[in-house]
Amino acid sequence: RNEINIGLLGFGVVGSGVAKILQDHQEDLHHKLGVPVKIKKVLVKNLHKNRETTLSLETFTDNLYEVLEDSSIDLIVEVMGGTFDAKEAIESSLRAGKGVVTANKDVMAEFGPGLLKLADENKCDLFYEASVGGGIPLIRTLEDGLASDRIRALTGIVNGTTNFILTKMKHEKMSYEDALAEATALGFAEADPSADVDGIDAARKMVILASLSFSTEVRLGDVFVRGMKEIQEGDLELAEQFGYTVKLAGSAKKNEDGIEVAVEPVFFPNSHPLASVNNEFNAVYIYGDAVGETMFYGPGAGSMPTATSVTGDIIAACRNLLLGVNGKRLHAPQYERKVKSDSN
Ligand code: NDP
Ligand code: HSE
Repeated sequence: RNEINIGLLGFGVVGSGVAKILQDHQEDLHHKLGVPVKIKKVLVKNLHKNRETTLSLETFTDNLYEVLEDSSIDLIVEVMGGTFDAKEAIESSLRAGKGVVTANKDVMAEFGPGLLKLADENKCDLFYEASVGGGIPLIRTLEDGLASDRIRALTGIVNGTTNFILTKMKHEKMSYEDALAEATALGFAEADPSADVDGIDAARKMVILASLSFSTEVRLGDVFVRGMKEIQEGDLELAEQFGYTVKLAGSAKKNEDGIEVAVEPVFFPNSHPLASVNNEFNAVYIYGDAVGETMFYGPGAGSMPTATSVTGDIIAACRNLLLGVNGKRLHAPQYERKVKSDSN
């Protein structure tokens, strides 16, 4: 191989950031990998949109199959979002023997175990670091860094939009509506922001983290979810009077009774580190038997931080392609269904 060609599905907040990193850092990446990494085709919905990019117009298409069926493309990067089209695109790519990098937590939370199995069967990579925590490397930490430990619990802030809204409401007395509009304009919110404010996006991320942490197939229906709309007018002020800060927090723990996963508004004392995680930043505590308490903090949403995680996955997949070991993961997740409340 003297180059690696990418098919980029989506050129929005994340996709345009990926293209920018591949362009701005191309010399470093070439140096690290020994071959250039090029975007061969880009899928978009609207071909007539004005886009700031150095990629040629001919690179863009609105025909998914023009990307998937291009035999010169080595790797598919799915950053188009949504569930069903994205899932189909990932499946078709894996079946065609092409590795996939995705930022899609909707797909990974609902279909992750099946897709990872399909990737294994087809000896392809399926990497999804950007699906949780934007620019914070949480998935790789659980898969590799903490792989030897027995994880007992996780807790933290895993949605940037709601944290941004709560921060603006607390510190700038901004209205909920204005703060949500700003989070949307900055590219933090989901295409349908009710996923953010209703706690579903955070619940999907907790499904992904809990599944990895406890080697168990946790499902969205297992998660107790209360979104930020449950926060009453006056709650924030009351919290402030008593020295507390309200955050939409995710938690997952494993005990003798089974696994419990929840997303809900929580009052943190102002002295707690999570109380000072502001704006679109996320932070996750991971508690392991051997390691004890660790905390991971960083930008949880936005173009360049998320694109950093996606391009990190691209590099990992390129390395595997170049070594001829695509699909070989030392710690491929082997999920069993072990959730206590499961009735299926
Ligand atoms: P955007 O809405 O900004 O971009 C989506 C892109 O995909 C657009 O270029 C759009 O085309 C294209 N697209 C969408 N649907 C289709 C379709 N059916 N056919 C062809 N093209 C399509 O989304 P984001 O970049 O914000 O998010 C992408 C993914 O990354 C999502 O899964 C999201 O959850 C995830 N993510 C996002 C983060 C963020 O901070 N924004 C952080 C972490 C993950 P067009 O440009 O023509 O509209
Ligand atoms: N809408 C998501 C958030 C994007 O606000 O956290 C990052 O996953």
